[in-house]
Amino acid sequence: MTKLYLSPPHMSGEELELLQDAFASNWIAPLGPHVDAFEREFADTVGVGHAAALSSGTAALHLALLLLGVGPDDEVFCSDLTFAATAFAITYVGARPVFIDADCGTWNMDPGLLNEALVDRARRGRLPAAVLVVDLYGQSADWEPILVACGRYGVPVIEDAAEALGATCHGRPVGGVGRFGIFSFNGNKIITTSGGGMLVSDDGEAITRARFLASQARDPAPHYQHSTIGYNYRMSNLLAAVGRGQLRVLEERVAARRQVFSWYKELLCDLPGLEFMPEAEYGRSTRWLTCLTVEPGEFGATREDIRLALEEEDIESRPVWKPMHLQPVFEGCEVIGGGVSEGLFEQGLCLPSGSALSRDDVERIAGIVRHQCRNC
Ligand SMILES: Cc1ncc(COP(=O)(O)O)c(C=O)c1O
Repeated sequence: MTKLYLSPPHMSGEELELLQDAFASNWIAPLGPHVDAFEREFADTVGVGHAAALSSGTAALHLALLLLGVGPDDEVFCSDLTFAATAFAITYVGARPVFIDADCGTWNMDPGLLNEALVDRARRGRLPAAVLVVDLYGQSADWEPILVACGRYGVPVIEDAAEALGATCHGRPVGGVGRFGIFSFNGNKIITTSGGGMLVSDDGEAITRARFLASQARDPAPHYQHSTIGYNYRMSNLLAAVGRGQLRVLEERVAARRQVFSWYKELLCDLPGLEFMPEAEYGRSTRWLTCLTVEPGEFGATREDIRLALEEEDIESRPVWKPMHLQPVFEGCEVIGGGVSEGLFEQGLCLPSGSALSRDDVERIAGIVRHQCRNC
């Protein structure tokens, strides 16, 4: 049997034709017609005015923070339960992350805690320079109260939608609610360019500036002149061609991931101590990854027992993200709350969720999970 991965790439076939077109045109560069078209098509999909195609989601986060002028001595409020890239970007501009715990109903940043933290900082006259909120595992954050709280104090919001392309919040696609949104096309994402990212915003001037910074900040002169520090962050025209092909099947990929989730739910919902990540009532989750928690007392085994049993069968699963406040590299950083994300890390597991998984694959995985249950 071939190995089952957590979230492998899933090509549609159209990517190859577009890639051949890129080859034939000889635009083998970090600019070209496919980059321009991918940016336009992506902005339309997400419902924002402008998009800049970049080398990674992390690059997009870095540029968003730079464009907001975040710098040394600033604080940035950041989701505690996320992949480290979110918080790493804050350190690239010399700022300090302050982690805000998750809400157990959505697994995303707790808007109540955020609000309390903003009230506290406002009282002390030390508001954060930005709030960086993640849409976790394909599910939108609870944007309405977050935007109200940040809007009250004029604190700009960056939306890290790296994991949530295709999700919605009150019917609106994620990524466009804050001043900037970022996406990732890393190999494990719902659509991929092997590696890449997108920065989106309704602020056209900011996106033009992002393209400038991402292309080594060359001043408009015939010689090489630079008045500001630049970065080599642009996306290759070859990868943009792949991205365009992938974008065309986004809705199919969302439907397939949601189908995989429903199969797991159907096959495992009777097991004691297993709880699936809830889908918030305000939006549509893509179920990028099917995640669940395992309560060992009720289930009779831990999430680690399940993970190891799957590994023995050459099936990849992963613990839920280890919260940022528990990461050695962020030791000493402030955390507001933290108990919810710790609990989700201790008990949470992400099951294989690729959009090409078959019903047979899911039945096999679910059978191994069921076998671990000692209290059934
Ligand atoms: C929440 C989150 N933010 C940021 C990133 C970084 O994106 P990239 O790998 O494209 O740099 C990822 C994943 O890779 C992610 O899951």
